[in-house]
Amino acid sequence: MNKEKLVAPSVLAADFANLQRDVEMINESQADWFHIDIMDGVFVPNISFGMPVLKAITKHAKKTIDTHLMIVDPDRYIKTFADLGTDILTVHYEACTHLHRTIQSIHAHGMRAGVALNPHTPIAVLEDIITELDMVCLMSVNPGFGGQSFIENTYKKISQLKNLIEYSNASTLIEIDGGVTDKNANKLIEVGADVLVAGSFVFNSENPIETIANLKAIIN
Ligand code: DX5
Ligand code: ZN
Repeated sequence: MNKEKLVAPSVLAADFANLQRDVEMINESQADWFHIDIMDGVFVPNISFGMPVLKAITKHAKKTIDTHLMIVDPDRYIKTFADLGTDILTVHYEACTHLHRTIQSIHAHGMRAGVALNPHTPIAVLEDIITELDMVCLMSVNPGFGGQSFIENTYKKISQLKNLIEYSNASTLIEIDGGVTDKNANKLIEVGADVLVAGSFVFNSENPIETIANLKAIIN
């Protein structure tokens, strides 16, 4: 049986002046995870939000917390994000000198571990670590901002990653982050994605609950 495909709305696109309302909306929807984008203004040219805001989110959130760190030297904050209730912690390949150690530390703190790849970073860099990873997040836009358009080369990378996962007998999930809509969702799943992050497509829609339900229906 095929495993269920997941939708992870990105809180980056929520209305921060109505954060509790938007968190409750995700709770009530068919969404599977909360996707939390943490940006430091150094690794990416934007600053999103930090620990106090994440604390406010997790106070109300009733689903898996999928935290995507777009920060340099993420090792400094692994314990902090564990304490804040993160279930899956994703770091960027490009931000980690000792990636293997970082992944071990995320696991040691009781979280699932993910690695994100920028659009230009080849899948091959994960060959020697794939069996340690619970998830790989393929960036389908350049990280830093919501609302950008999807980079088509991502399809090819999903197939390559899927091959690597199968060849290595790994059980790593493939997450796609950036520019996901009802137009590309089906194809993303067909080529091998397991989790779709969607920010502006969900939150800019007339009826986010319905938009999430539609996405779930398209991919399952
Ligand atoms: C981009 C973030 C994404 C972003 C996706 O740096 O990692 O999670 O919120 O937003 P959309 O779905 O609007 O491309
Ligand atoms: Zn993200």
